[in-house]
Amino acid sequence: IATSDKKKILLLGKSGSGKTSMRSIIFSHYSPTETRRLGPTMDVEHSTVRVFGSLQLTLWDCGGQEAFMDSYFTTQREFIFKNVEMLIYVFDMEFRDFDGELLYFENCLQSIQLFSKEAKIVCLLHKMDLVAADLQETVVREKSEELTKRTGNMDVRIFSTSIFEPSLYRAWSHIMNSIMPNIEAIRRHLETFCKVADVTEVVLFERTSFLAIAGYQLREIPGKGDTFDVLSSILKSFNLALNNKRSASFKIVRIRLDGFILIITNFTKNTVLMATTDNPNMTPATLTSNIRIACEHFK
Ligand code: GTP
Repeated sequence: IATSDKKKILLLGKSGSGKTSMRSIIFSHYSPTETRRLGPTMDVEHSTVRVFGSLQLTLWDCGGQEAFMDSYFTTQREFIFKNVEMLIYVFDMEFRDFDGELLYFENCLQSIQLFSKEAKIVCLLHKMDLVAADLQETVVREKSEELTKRTGNMDVRIFSTSIFEPSLYRAWSHIMNSIMPNIEAIRRHLETFCKVADVTEVVLFERTSFLAIAGYQLREIPGKGDTFDVLSSILKSFNLALNNKRSASFKIVRIRLDGFILIITNFTKNTVLMATTDNPNMTPATLTSNIRIACEHFK
């Protein structure tokens, strides 16, 4: 799991679109309501997050007030847009002037093409909680079409998000997964663990953010969808409720459901693991001890 990489991620979008809020929730243990206290970001705020071994994400939270935005495309252009691994552009769905916002977005695309041709791009249609439920699907479809017209064949993914919903975790898990260099090797390790220890499903989460890194399902679990984002958000809230502001330091949670054992536990230094089994002969103690043995292979 250990990697030694520094990755530059640009967070751009107009002032008040929610950039600092999402960064603070995911990486600094803010609750969604606490983000109301955040002031505007002056120029660029850099924060380095050590997410996994020695993988370092350097987030460039670029304040969205007009004067700052203009400087990103003039005096600071090369400084901002060079060596970028990923550009995340946040669109505020409450903001009426989407066309005006698209001009900024197009400027970003041109600058990225010029200085970081290989960068991946993620667009977040953010504050979806403020769009009426019956309009959400249409809004997302129309905005996505507009964005796709502008991005052509660039590597772009579009997500709809809100800080009050698990959708935030879905988008950021994708962001994290697509810049992690050794994700396939981790998946293979999880698959081996499930097969050897007869674990029905396993999910690995990054320990600060609770973003799902990878998972494997040995057997179909009836009635269960793809719920990693929901789990991330529940674990995050659970951790906040325990008041572990600085680190995710709950040790172990064991739950027995109808014919199921579910364990969530700290795993390696940087990860939390969730494992479930429907094997009726397995006890929580056996599963815990298998997790401890597997842990050695992930260090
Ligand atoms: P600048 O630093 O000026 O560029 O702004 P910013 O993009 O960093 O915006 P910020 O994160 O400071 O958020 C502005 C406001 O939007 C805060 O009051 C947040 O609570 C609110 N906000 C952020 N995300 C959401 C969301 O998903 N839904 C709703 N309803 N409000 C949000």
